[in-house]
Order: sequence, then structure tokens, then C-alpha cells
Amino acid sequence: MNLESLLNIVYILSAITFILGFKLLSNPETARRGNILSAVGMAVAIAATFMFPEVVRFQFIVIGMIVGASIGLLFAYRTPMTGMPQMVGLLNGFGGTASLLVAWAEYTAHPEQSGMGGGMLWITAIIGSVTFSGSMIAWAKLEERFISGKPIMYTGQRYVTMAVMASLLTLGFLFARDTAAGDATLFLGIVTALALILGILLVIPIGGADMPVVICMLNSYSGMAACASGFIVQNNLLIVAGALVGASGIILTLIMCKAMNRSVANVFLGGFGADTGGSTMEVVGEIKPVKADEAYLMLEAANSVVIVPGYGLAVSQAQHAVRELMEVLEKNGTEVRFAIHPVAGRMPGHMNVLLAEANVSYDAMVEMDAVNPTMETVDVCMIIGANDVVNPAAKEDKASPLWGMPIIEADRSRTVIVMKRSMGKGFAGVANPLFFRNNTRMLFGDAKASLQAIINEFKGA
Ligand code: TAP
Repeated sequence: MNLESLLNIVYILSAITFILGFKLLSNPETARRGNILSAVGMAVAIAATFMFPEVVRFQFIVIGMIVGASIGLLFAYRTPMTGMPQMVGLLNGFGGTASLLVAWAEYTAHPEQSGMGGGMLWITAIIGSVTFSGSMIAWAKLEERFISGKPIMYTGQRYVTMAVMASLLTLGFLFARDTAAGDATLFLGIVTALALILGILLVIPIGGADMPVVICMLNSYSGMAACASGFIVQNNLLIVAGALVGASGIILTLIMCKAMNRSVANVFLGGFGADTGGSTMEVVGEIKPVKADEAYLMLEAANSVVIVPGYGLAVSQAQHAVRELMEVLEKNGTEVRFAIHPVAGRMPGHMNVLLAEANVSYDAMVEMDAVNPTMETVDVCMIIGANDVVNPAAKEDKASPLWGMPIIEADRSRTVIVMKRSMGKGFAGVANPLFFRNNTRMLFGDAKASLQAIINEFKGA
């Protein structure tokens, strides 16, 4: 067996570890193992790539790896769990940039490309550029740095976006014509510049609660760009790994679209989650603040309690305190369930991971669709650091940017206790009429401190 066949067998084995890794990632209990397995597969694949006869000089690869790994490690250690979407956004952008650079490097080395080669260069340049600029805008929006997190809209936005897309298509033909003659630098430059603009145009109109869908979409784009660059450098594993990321990103995007009740067409063209002119719904009722001892009395008398965790639970790092409260309540004979909204927190599965860290059993976590039909029978719905995912404006106010997003219908339970620090808004930046409802009580303060105070009441009783 020659060296190339042997290395391709190693690639196939690596691809198998990626697929098994994905399978393991689908369950929080096995996800860590899945991650490690795929990482080992990737390390083996990198080592195998070094053996290919085409790789003649190692110094730049080693320098690149050291610099890249150092930046990655620094990011991973410094980023708090609540900053994950921004970090994923940045990493997607880096993936897109890498593919774009591969396209340019390949073009510079072999300007005369024809047919498939030229087509792949063109596709890689477009997807890589869109992923890069789109991800940078998504990062800036999530960080609220340089630009606001709000949607940026202007008249004729969709037509401008479609015109840029049409231009990229036309340029593809011109690029194919000139690259056959070995002189398409100008068109490749224009394609790259226009695609960079397209990435910005696609992401600026998106805002509020819809950013998670965009991050998933950009993740998928980065995979597609890697897959296309795999065709350029004829690396089978890059094609497989890129296709896996692209396909899984699309599946996650579809799941998120369903969860957010948004259409896929809108995600591709941008301009959803847009400012609908501001909510016109009148907030009626008054705020009814309670102290921990009053909240304790309500919980102590409850037969069934549903806890809705949100981003504030992560900020406050109250996952262990909430598990302790669950145990205390169960000891008191109360049925306790956690209602998990698909976009609660700041990354897919954020609440599941947080609660699993505190050893809350998966059986106690119920999905939104399963819990909503039972809400009328719930004595106390305890909202801990959640806001947008329980905002009734999503189903009552057509002018709200949240309109159409399915929510956990906490308002239908008998009593609602909301734990948060102030009347501050959620990620989408809109007021929440739930806080003013007759059956809602507000327990102001840091979630962990409030939970601890309630637990102390139980223990002191
Ligand atoms: P949010 O709507 O962001 O609300 C979180 C609430 O937590 C805030 O209103 C805040 O109110 C409160 N809070 C913050 N720190 C707290 C603390 N230490 N103790 C107690 N409360 C605290 O959260 P959500 O309901 O989970 O909704 C998630 C939002 O993020 C959605 O709009 C979603 O689309 C978006 N998003 C989600 C993801 C994914 S994939 N999950 C990614 C990006 C964006 P106070 O300041 O008054 O305390």
C-alpha cells in the first residue's frame, strides 16, 4: 500500500470519529466525550496531513499552529459561559477567513483555473467572505461594541441585498471566463469585496431575540466554505469535515427557526427580527414586589412548581442554589419541573448545560411544547433571570419585535414569581407586560441571593 492510500485511510478513520462525535454531542450526558473524540480525530488528521508529500516546509505551519492555538486557548479560558455566542461568532468568522485565504492562495499559485477549479474558487471566496464579515457584525452586535444590537433598516434593503447577490452571480461568469486565461485577479477582488459587503447587509437588519438563528446560519456557512476549499486543495477530509459542519449548522438553523417561529427564507435574505415600529401595547397593572419570606409561603403551599431558568441564572451562577431549592421543595412534597425554552440564555442548550452542571436530572427538564399545555394546573411558576422567553407580548402584540416567537406561557399559571434585579429589559430590549399582571409577584435581587434566602426560610421553618 502506498503512502497516499494509507493517509486516506487515516482520513476515513478521522471522519468516522467526527460522525461518532456528532452523535455523542446530541446528548448532554455524552457531549463531553463526543467533543474529545472529535478533537482526537482532528489531531490525528493534522498529523497525517503533515506526511503528504506536497507538504515540504513545516516552519510556517508550526508558527501558524502555535499562534492560532495560543489565541484559541486564551479565548477559551477568558470567555465566560455568558459570552459564548460572541466567541462562536468570532470563531465562525475565522473559519470563513481561512477558507477565503485558501482560495486566494490557490489562485495566486495557479491563476489558470478552468471548470470545477474556477467554480470552487469563486464559491469559496463568496462564502468565506460572507462568513467573515457577517460574523464580525454578529460579534459586534452581540457585544454591543461599535454598533448597536438593534436591527438596522433602510428603505429598499431587500432589493439592495438581492442586487448584490445577482451581481455576484454575474461576476461568476466573468471570473470563469478570465480565470481560464489566467488573468482574473480583478474579478476575484471584486467578488471578495462584494461578498464582504453582502455579509454585512445580511446581518445588520437582524437584531433582538433573533441573533441565535444568525449565529447558527453563519456556523453553517463556515462549514460550507471549508468544504468548498477542500475541493480547491483536493483534501478529502476537509470536504467531509466542512460538509458535516455545513449540514449540522443547517439542521440547527432549521430547529432554531422552528423554535423562534421564523421563516428560513427570511434568514437567508436577512431582515427579520426587525424593528416593527415599537410596541404599541399598553402595559396595564402595577408591580407587586415581594420579599423572600412571602415567596417562601407561596412555594411552601404549592403542589406543583415550574421553574423557568433564563440568562440571569447563568449571570448569577445560581444553578447549584436552584438545585438545592428543588430538593427542598421535593422534600416538602412539591412536584418540581424545569421548563426549558430553546433560546433561553445565550447559546443553544445553555440552560441544559448549566443545570446539568449542578446535577439536575434530565428527567426534571421539560421542553416548552410539553410544559405549555399544563401551565394552567401549575401553582407557582418561578422565573429565574428569564425575560424574553416568557414575554406575553410575543403572542399578544403584533408590533413587538418578539411577535410570533413561541414563549413559555408562565402567565397562564396560578401564581408567577419573577426573580430579577430590577425592571431591566431582556436581550430583545422590550418591556415585559407579565411583570404587571395580577398574578405576578416580583422578587427583586440577584437570583442566587434570592434563592438562598428562600432556602434559608425553608430550613428555618
Ligand atoms: P433575557 O431576555 O436576556 O433576560 C435575562 C434577564 O435576566 C434580564 O432581564 C435581567 O434582568 C436578568 N438578570 C441578569 N442578571 C441577573 C442576576 N444576576 N440575577 C437575576 N436576574 C438577572 O434572557 P432569556 O429570557 O433567557 O432570553 C434569552 C434571550 O437571548 C432571547 O431574546 C434570545 O433570543 C437571546 N439569545 C439567545 C441565544 C441562545 S442560542 N440561547 C443566543 C443569543 C441571544 P435584570 O437586569 O433586571 O436583573
